[in-house]
Amino acid sequence: MDYEDIKKRLKIITENPVKGIPEEEMAKVRKKIAEKAPKSKEIYDEIKDLIPGGTQHQLVIKDPFALTMKKNLGTKMWDIDGNEYIDYLMSAGACILGHSYPPLREEMQKLLDDLDPNTYWNTEWELKALKLLRKHVPSVEKVTYFQSGTEADMAALRIARVFTGNEKIIKFSGSYHGWSDQLMTDIHIPYSGTMEADGIPRGCYKDIVNVPPADINALEEALEKYTQKRAGVAAVLVEPFGAESGSIPVPPDFNKQIKELCDKYDVLLIFDEVVTGFRMSLGGAQEYLGVIPDLTVFGKILTHGYPSTGAVGGRSEILDVCTGDVETGGKHAFIGGTIRGNPLSIAATYWTIKLIEESNAIEKAAKAGDDLVKKLNNLFEDHDRPYFAYNYKSCIHYETYSPVAMDIRDAENIPKAVFRKKCVDDIATVLLSEGIITKYGNRAFTCMQHTPEENDKFVEAFEKVLNMIPKY
Ligand SMILES: Cc1ncc(COP(=O)(O)O)c(C=O)c1O
Repeated sequence: MDYEDIKKRLKIITENPVKGIPEEEMAKVRKKIAEKAPKSKEIYDEIKDLIPGGTQHQLVIKDPFALTMKKNLGTKMWDIDGNEYIDYLMSAGACILGHSYPPLREEMQKLLDDLDPNTYWNTEWELKALKLLRKHVPSVEKVTYFQSGTEADMAALRIARVFTGNEKIIKFSGSYHGWSDQLMTDIHIPYSGTMEADGIPRGCYKDIVNVPPADINALEEALEKYTQKRAGVAAVLVEPFGAESGSIPVPPDFNKQIKELCDKYDVLLIFDEVVTGFRMSLGGAQEYLGVIPDLTVFGKILTHGYPSTGAVGGRSEILDVCTGDVETGGKHAFIGGTIRGNPLSIAATYWTIKLIEESNAIEKAAKAGDDLVKKLNNLFEDHDRPYFAYNYKSCIHYETYSPVAMDIRDAENIPKAVFRKKCVDDIATVLLSEGIITKYGNRAFTCMQHTPEENDKFVEAFEKVLNMIPKY
């Protein structure tokens, strides 16, 4: 589905009133989950007093309670009560080979016979992994590891600032680049400002400039404005497929235009490929789109979820500011982290890339994504709903209530967006009750092992959702 079509369809969804799943239906769904998963419920009742919010992750479905998982393999997860689920969350996108993929697991087990994560020194895995990464990712000459995507994004900004001597960073409203203090404005929901920034001193984000999503003119205006000032622009930070791997899509040539502007105003381009890295291609979104950034941020699939997963790659002259070489005028981007680049992470990178190469995982996962999207769109059409699905390879979006597309600059839209968000969450709960795990109720990730039959089960479960939503 092309960009204009997505925009047109989103407009229809956002401009019309919606109805959610009635509460009495949701009560039945919750009862079903509680009956199926009594041990999970018992654990959750205790654990919620030990973990703030009851889980470590925001994407875990907590309505009516968070399940306790016991085992995973391939596309499946099993909870502690023995219920089986088809997983379309895939560890928030970190998993493309499939859970506990035996060839990867075996290599990791072998590694641990020799080296534990507390090694601290270089190992041969650095050479092997980083050569492989460099072979595939066009922008990468040097790489340095971090403990998460959040840390890597944070480090990329510091590196860009030291290299350029400038302070401002421009990013797109709605994008998520981890939860470091300075990057917590306008996250997820465009124009949400400091909604998620409690506890962060205002000064932390004074050098972050948010521009409206998918708006190239606004980017140029910001570049024009801030490159004139003393604290000029160090970099433009971009999720290449738009916020949240395409939840807020961008026009086809958008990244090329960004790159041209970055060159024109002499600022660095940073691609945040924490999700797109190894989902669009082994060379990331940059290879897929033919746009070479100055710095690339990696995470998630970089180590296939093995801890700790995050890295910044880019041109040598830029990365070298981490060492404080004389060429940078003694300026030095300090980076640290006791377990960053530990043997487990680096060997996991090597084996993940190698196994993706050997298995053609990216294209297989994309094929599963195409199949799911086609089937969902057929279902929506059969049910005469304005809903629609689209995908960027194995990143799948299905739009029903589209809360994120509501323009909350109009205050009247705020309660509407909140209500729509609840409707989407309810979809996730119903799908869960049918044995399907998703990212909220509007996104999915496929791995190379998802089958057409599993996608059929997803669609059957979705049909149950549709049957619960009153016509409007
Ligand atoms: C685009 C993007 N950047 C950065 C991050 C942060 O990565 P991490 O969760 O490893 O800190 C995420 C996490 O979802 C992400 O999607």
